[in-house]
Amino acid sequence: MARNIAGAIQCTVPAKDAEDSSSVNTAETMKNVLITGVAGMIGSHLLDRLLEREYTVTGIDNLSFGKTANIAHNLSNPKFTFYPVDILDFDTLKILAKDADTIVHLAAVKKIAEKDSSMATLKVNAKGTENVFEAARMWGKKVVYASTSDVYGMSPDLPFSEDGDLLLGPSMVKRWSYAVAKLYGEQLAFGYHADCGLRVVVLRYFGGFSPRSSFAWSGGHIPIFIRAILEDREVPIHGDGTQTRSMTYVDDLIDGTVAAMETDAAVGEIINLGSQEEMSVIDAARLIHRVAATGKELKLNFIPLQEVFGNYKDILRRIPDLRKAERILGYRPKHSMEEAIRKTLHSVGQSERPLR
Ligand SMILES: NC(=O)c1ccc[n+]([C@@H]2O[C@H](COP(=O)([O-])OP(=O)(O)OC[C@H]3O[C@@H](n4cnc5c(N)ncnc54)[C@H](O)[C@@H]3O)[C@@H](O)[C@H]2O)c1
Repeated sequence: MARNIAGAIQCTVPAKDAEDSSSVNTAETMKNVLITGVAGMIGSHLLDRLLEREYTVTGIDNLSFGKTANIAHNLSNPKFTFYPVDILDFDTLKILAKDADTIVHLAAVKKIAEKDSSMATLKVNAKGTENVFEAARMWGKKVVYASTSDVYGMSPDLPFSEDGDLLLGPSMVKRWSYAVAKLYGEQLAFGYHADCGLRVVVLRYFGGFSPRSSFAWSGGHIPIFIRAILEDREVPIHGDGTQTRSMTYVDDLIDGTVAAMETDAAVGEIINLGSQEEMSVIDAARLIHRVAATGKELKLNFIPLQEVFGNYKDILRRIPDLRKAERILGYRPKHSMEEAIRKTLHSVGQSERPLR
């Protein structure tokens, strides 16, 4: 279908792919997957799971945040091919998209500190996501798009449900650039779905972690606390630490992501993936300290929010409504926070890699 509006996209879907898009899309018929952001935390674990399930995977990553070490054990697997490609490179992306049945779009620049530039967050997450959807549109491919709980912003409607209103802060606060760019990606997904018949699933991940998380800023508070406690340094607590989060072990997020890829009923839906175990930031530090049992005292460094975020108001509580995930995907997180922390600490302890 073509549109007359200036600048609007041409939505012609190739004849063969138009037929494919109306056919039943079972796991058996979609064994070729393109993962963007494959060297990142979620991407590399998804790669492991898909290879276990006999998928053929092409992975791309520009290695700006991801690590080759996360995928090194799979580089010799004949069912995996890695390309160090940037999603801003549309010409290469569209060639790689051709052979995929499904694109799982994870590549992103995540939340930023107020002192940093927001430009990469905006450009990669908006323009890069446009490129992914446009490449998918050209060949009629399904897209599973990684969005974030950040889009709920300061919504008071807990637990956050997929059809709830979203409450974002002012544009002068750079921290909102991440949520805004991801929301643009969500709207783009539904634009392509409505206008071009593209099969899309939007996943709103709530904070996840694993031994492959970044143990610096972008990995979130749990990996930062683990590193500080293992290195016997002060644990940085933003504000008074009473704000709560519901964090998820990566294996649970991967269960939900694979189910979203393989479930026809997920097409055209937004689905939360996370855990409902709510824990304050300060209690998370205490839990990690107890489980790590370093024999050293827990040292907390309370940092005023203004110093970290400027005028950004930290979100006080974040809990997902998981009823839709359970109904459509059969999703139920299996790991408690304590189990997730134990697994992460165990794996970090076995690894020779420095935490960074
Ligand atoms: N982990 C979480 O808690 C969480 C929560 C909400 C949403 N998400 C979303 O899930 C996705 C994966 O998150 P993650 O935790 O694995 O993040 P990550 O930072 O570990 O992985 C993202 C990957 O994208 C790559 N990348 C960045 N810019 C790129 C570009 N221009 N071209 C190609 N690759 C690029 C990075 O190098 C990195 O390997 C992201 O889209 C993120 O926004 C994650």
